[in-house]
Amino acid sequence: MKVFYNGKFEELESVKISPFDRGFLYADGVYEVIRTYNGKFFRLDDHLERLIYSLNEIRINYNDVNLIENILYQLVDRNNYTSEVSVYIQITRGSSFPRRHSFPEQNIKPTVFISVNTLVENRVENESGVKVILEKDIRWQRCDIKSVALLPNVLANQHAKEELSAEAVWVKDGYLLEGSHTNFFGIKDKKMWTAPLSNSILSGVTRKVILELCNLIKIPYSEQSIKEKDIKSFDEFFISGTTTEIKPVIQIDKFKISNGKPGKITKNLQAAFYDLIKK
Ligand code: PDD
Repeated sequence: MKVFYNGKFEELESVKISPFDRGFLYADGVYEVIRTYNGKFFRLDDHLERLIYSLNEIRINYNDVNLIENILYQLVDRNNYTSEVSVYIQITRGSSFPRRHSFPEQNIKPTVFISVNTLVENRVENESGVKVILEKDIRWQRCDIKSVALLPNVLANQHAKEELSAEAVWVKDGYLLEGSHTNFFGIKDKKMWTAPLSNSILSGVTRKVILELCNLIKIPYSEQSIKEKDIKSFDEFFISGTTTEIKPVIQIDKFKISNGKPGKITKNLQAAFYDLIKK
């Protein structure tokens, strides 16, 4: 597999990353996941804008984000991929010795790694819906930054898997915010609710698309967090993300949502989403 590493296209096996890379030592870096539809990277500008935001927020000086689009398409070509793909982009502050928490004094170069993977379309769960569990939000207070420090998310998603669930939804101060790697939505009395943008959630690109689709197909919405104690008063729930797309939630912990079937408005949004990505 060919990957992009620090300015060059290389075989994965030949990539050598220093153990003193600050990504390895401190999770001092950020990332993006982007996918294609019809061979085109979907909402690339939104993803790259969020990448620039994350880099700026943690003060990594990387000025070549404008080169990434070309690198992504080249990577797809160089791997001879003809199916849809997802890419993983990670940029860390770089490598420096000796290990010191504060930024290195000398100007170090950020470490840039990009890999591409083929995507096999599997929409079974988009049809059937998924179970989710609730998890106390133990993450840091800057979840708006797409940081590679994902240990709480890893543990929560593993917990979900052990409970035969697709996702863990973070609960903070009694409010449902987002999933370990997805945004979270509810529908009550034909109106959609999702947590407002803040430091407590990631500004999901799919979330943004969903709000646009709500405007298009006239689903009223409110950027308002759902209270855990109000779950039972909601008719539908779903989660969203780049590779997740729109997945209906049919059970939260032990509680079945609308008899364990995907909701109607969720299905309408899904249909609008599939229409959009076909174009
Ligand atoms: N996850 N919230 C969190 C915490 C996420 O990590 C993600 C994305 C989302 C959805 O964002 P988007 O619609 O832009 O993919 C929400 C990526 C895909 C991941 O970690 O693999």
